[in-house]
Amino acid sequence: MKGMAADPEEYDMSELSRLAEMDNSLAIFCMATYGEGDPTDNAQDFYDWLQETDGKLDGVNYTVFALGNKTYEHYNAMGVYVDKRLEELGAKRVFDLGMGDDDGNLEEDFVTWREQFWPAMCEHFGVEASGEDSSIRQYELKEHNDINMNKVYTGELGRLKSFETQKPPFDAKNPFLAPVTVNRKLNKAGDRHLMHLEVDITGSKIRYESGDHVAVYPTNDTAIVNKLGQILGVDLDLVISLNNLDEESNKKHPFPCPTTYRTALTHYLDIIHPPRTNVLYELAQYATDPKDQENMRKMASSAPEGKALYQSFVLEDNRNILAILEDLPSLRPPIDHLCELMPRLQARYYSIASSSKVHPNSIHICAVLVEYTTKTGRLTKGVATTWLKNKLVADNGHKSTVPMYIRKSQFRLPFKASNPVIMVGPGTGIAPFMGFIQERGWLKEQGKEVGETVLYFGCRHKNEDYLYQEELEEAEKTGVITKLNVAFSRDQDQKVYVQHLLRTNKEDLWRQIHTDNAHIYICGDARNMARDVQTAFYEIAEELGGMTRTQATDYIKKLMTKGRYSLDVWS
Ligand SMILES: Cc1cc2nc3c(=O)[nH]c(=O)nc-3n(C[C@H](O)[C@H](O)[C@H](O)COP(=O)(O)OP(=O)(O)OC[C@H]3O[C@@H](n4cnc5c(N)ncnc54)[C@H](O)[C@@H]3O)c2cc1C
Ligand SMILES: Cc1cc2nc3c(=O)[nH]c(=O)nc-3n(C[C@H](O)[C@H](O)[C@H](O)COP(=O)(O)O)c2cc1C
Repeated sequence: MKGMAADPEEYDMSELSRLAEMDNSLAIFCMATYGEGDPTDNAQDFYDWLQETDGKLDGVNYTVFALGNKTYEHYNAMGVYVDKRLEELGAKRVFDLGMGDDDGNLEEDFVTWREQFWPAMCEHFGVEASGEDSSIRQYELKEHNDINMNKVYTGELGRLKSFETQKPPFDAKNPFLAPVTVNRKLNKAGDRHLMHLEVDITGSKIRYESGDHVAVYPTNDTAIVNKLGQILGVDLDLVISLNNLDEESNKKHPFPCPTTYRTALTHYLDIIHPPRTNVLYELAQYATDPKDQENMRKMASSAPEGKALYQSFVLEDNRNILAILEDLPSLRPPIDHLCELMPRLQARYYSIASSSKVHPNSIHICAVLVEYTTKTGRLTKGVATTWLKNKLVADNGHKSTVPMYIRKSQFRLPFKASNPVIMVGPGTGIAPFMGFIQERGWLKEQGKEVGETVLYFGCRHKNEDYLYQEELEEAEKTGVITKLNVAFSRDQDQKVYVQHLLRTNKEDLWRQIHTDNAHIYICGDARNMARDVQTAFYEIAEELGGMTRTQATDYIKKLMTKGRYSLDVWS
């Protein structure tokens, strides 16, 4: 059996039909859903093609595994669409769609799906499974003992030395190093750290609009990188390359090479999130204690006992790779194999908290520091937020910089400024609305007719974490915000959240939505807030529009399709 992994972005997907020319071939699509039921960036062209094509895919065998999260409105929309559309085009579904839920345990969903998938495929294609899974290295290690250091990657994503000689256009492969000009704590008290940062994009030719996201590439904590080096007993400054053994593959290295282990662990690899089961499975061979080896393999199996062990030992105890190595002293894998297996460190997105009309040369971020203690007593800090917190404006006379690029979004103010806007953004969900408010103020200054601008913000205590209090109160005073509603959840006995204030103001809201064509925006927590707020809108439509729940749901869904109910949420 031969297999290949293909990134749809790198292939002409209209040639998919040619798979039918190959006997016993099968295409497995792993489709994640992002945005509001949208494809990932690398699947966008494939998705567009699927929608437009009337080509025939007769004779193409396929199956789909969808990656999504139930807390989102359009759960696994992309996987569901691709599964259905391929069938419509004549392809043959040889195994049922699998659904992974990242809010539950996506890993377990996949393992369960895969466990049924293999026997079904063997039967379908008349193949006999050989029994033992074998592990095959994809990359071979080359150590460079005498290399010109100018040829060694030091954290660049694409072009070597792109951080030293910066050239536009700036994007995901070529981020701009934006100097940090402001970094201040937003909350007056409390044990959390909420922060406002401003980065300077002067001279970068970067353009953005209110509602866009800024993506930043953080680096991992030096202390964790050093500990990994120590525990594995390696020289982190050794220059290495991991070269693909398949010379025909498009992907020559798992991350930019040549580089040092230190750079790989600092800039390129995700060493913080709990490792996936396939990583544990591969690493198991290096555990000298048979019990550790057995447990690690078990965790990657679909046996209930193995799944439960992975759930408790890795997920619930929040063990990252360092914690696993510390707690399993018999496990000491070679660092090059570990580096081959770890996933790439991902950029983090932040909803831009400024308007380019007012701040064409700077981008504002509003973020909350992630910090928690795991069940095993380890203090764990969010990679990007800790790194952002430590980005001092002047660091020993040097300007701190942030590698960043802009990701366009659909979260946009109404085309007609005279339409009312209703913004619901508790906590850091206020971020894009700071941009919206600045922009509405700017439009007013330009003499434009600007409709009602209503904000629903929420926090714990008025005197603690009322973010941007001065700016918001000033905007209300000058009439840019026509109504400022703030829910303080912990200032009284009973909890008050934004959805409660929405219900209190239901008459006004219904008029704004139903009569005045208001646009509704919700930003912040996807898990609870966005859902509770949506329920409040259903109830308002039911009560004031005299609708049944089904009609109210349809009403809000229609607003979504018309771009009048937009979400910018994360969990
Ligand atoms: C489109 C979009 C827009 C966003 N906009 C903003 C924004 O404007 N402001 C903002 O602050 N964030 C925003 N985020 C979130 C942001 O991108 C980061 O995810 C967040 O800042 C955390 O990053 P980190 O690297 O510090 O944390 P990571 O190192 O990535 O750690 C976060 C992970 O830690 C775990 N975790 C966190 N808390 C606990 C706990 N108590 N117990 C156990 N595990 C825990 C969870 O698995 C969580 O996924 C946005 C996200 C998206 C996708
Ligand atoms: C900004 C954002 C939007 C998302 N939108 C959806 C969505 O509409 N539907 C869904 O099922 N999952 C959604 N998700 C969840 C992802 O699909 C899920 O986390 C999945 O595991 C991602 O797979 P990946 O890590 O392989 O990219 C969203 C996640 C983010 C961060």
